[in-house]
Amino acid sequence: MNILVINGPNLNLLGIREPQTYGSETLAELERELALAGKTRGVELDFFQSNLEGELIDRIHGSDADGIILNAGALTHYSYSLRDAIASVQTPVIEVHMSNVHARETFRHVSVIAPVCIGQIAGFGRDSYFLALEALLRRTHDRQD
Ligand code: DQA
Repeated sequence: MNILVINGPNLNLLGIREPQTYGSETLAELERELALAGKTRGVELDFFQSNLEGELIDRIHGSDADGIILNAGALTHYSYSLRDAIASVQTPVIEVHMSNVHARETFRHVSVIAPVCIGQIAGFGRDSYFLALEALLRRTHDRQD
């Protein structure tokens, strides 16, 4: 099993950016721990981060992963192109957010990608990614039963 973890705009600045909201861990540290968690479960994880909408769309189109964990950053709230990209592929996508977007500014309450994702995990900090990994694994196992 192969899972792709995609991070969108500004998430390259994890650890530096608004640590009170996003914590002090860098993206590289988080990716290392996720890779390890995947390995212990027999899953290979690939990682991609871009601040550019088109690059995220191309990566989704080109993915042959069994599942995608996507933190689209602010694009979540307004990118119809990203939404269409997710809807265009068969790969199941889980939307993740570190912060509880529903408890923040009203523009963050809307996710235009949520309807085309299999689910949304928000508000658990770095654990949102680990919970998404767990959700994808459980989903795959359920389907094999
Ligand atoms: C975020 C929430 C978004 O609203 C914000 O624009 C981000 C990060 C999160 O992980 O909590 O960049 O996706």
